[in-house]
Amino acid sequence: MSNHRRSFPSGRIAYVNGRYLPHAGACVHIEDRGLQFADSVYEVCAVLDGHLIDEQGHTERLGRSLNALQMEMPMRPAALGIVMRELIRRNRLRNGLVYLQVTRGAYRRDHVIPGNPELSVMMTARSMNVAAVEKRRSEGIAVVTLPDLRWGRCDIKTTGLLPNTLAKSEARKRGAFEAWLVDSDFMITEGTSANAWIVTGDGVLVTRNLSHNILAGVTRAGVLTALKSVTGLPVEQRPFSVDEALTAKEAFITSASGGVIPVVSIDGKPLGDGKPGAVARKVHELYSRLTAATVAA
Ligand code: PDD
Repeated sequence: MSNHRRSFPSGRIAYVNGRYLPHAGACVHIEDRGLQFADSVYEVCAVLDGHLIDEQGHTERLGRSLNALQMEMPMRPAALGIVMRELIRRNRLRNGLVYLQVTRGAYRRDHVIPGNPELSVMMTARSMNVAAVEKRRSEGIAVVTLPDLRWGRCDIKTTGLLPNTLAKSEARKRGAFEAWLVDSDFMITEGTSANAWIVTGDGVLVTRNLSHNILAGVTRAGVLTALKSVTGLPVEQRPFSVDEALTAKEAFITSASGGVIPVVSIDGKPLGDGKPGAVARKVHELYSRLTAATVAA
C-alpha cells in the first residue's frame, strides 16, 4: 500500500482556519468533528490553466450541503473565491484541483451537535496528471457494478465516504477504474466519485434524475446545459438498470476531476465495439467549450 504521507512535496501550501501553512504540517485538532463523526462537507473544484471551473456551481452546492446539516457558510461566496484563488497562486497551480472542506469544528466528543459551532475550514490545492486524464479520455475506462451501501442523503456532499472508497478500491482490484453503484432495485445510482451516463441504442442520453440517492454533479449540470444548445442529443433523466447499461451503445462518467470520460466496458463486457463512442466525444467537446469560456473570461 502506498504511503501518501511520504509524498507531500515541500513548497505546497494549505489553508486552515484563516492561515496559509506548509501543507506537510497543516493540521486540525484531534477532536475535530470531521475526524470523529465525518461531520463535515467538501467540494472539489477543477483548475484549468489557472482558472477555477464551475466556481459558482461548487459554491452553491457547498451552501446546500451545509444548509442540509444546519451549518452556516463559513464566509461569503466571494471570500471563498478569494481564498481559493490565493491558494492557486501560492501553489503556482496551472492544472489541478482545489479541495475545500468545512467541518463542525473541534469539540469534546459527543454525538449531540453543538449549538453555534465554530466551523473549521480547510483547503488544499494539488496538480493533476493531465496526461493520465487524457489517456483515460482517449482509451476509455472499465467500470464494475457493486452494491450501493451508502446512506439516504447522498445528495449532501459529506466526507462520510467509506462506502465510496471501499467500492472504488474493489473496482481497482478487479482491474476497473470506477465502480457504478447499484441500488436494491438493480438500478444504477452513480459512480463512487462521478455521475453515470449511458447512451441507448436509439441515441438517447440517460442519467439518473436528481434525488436524495445521488450527488447533483456540477459537471453533470454543465453537460445538461451544454446539451440544451444542440439538437440530436436528447436527454432523459431517469433511473436505468444494470441490464440496460450492459446493452447500451455507449456510456460515460462526469466529474470535476475528469470532465467527461468514456466507459468502454461494464463488468468485463465491452460496450458497443469496446472503444470510446462518438457521443461521449461530442459531449466532451460541448462541455469543454463551456469551460473554455470560463478560462477565457
Ligand atoms: N467527486 N458523484 C459523487 C459520489 C461524487 O463524489 C462526485 C464528485 C460526483 C461528480 O460531481 P462533480 O461533477 O460536481 O465533481 C458525482 C469529487 C470529484 C471527489 O470526490 O473527488
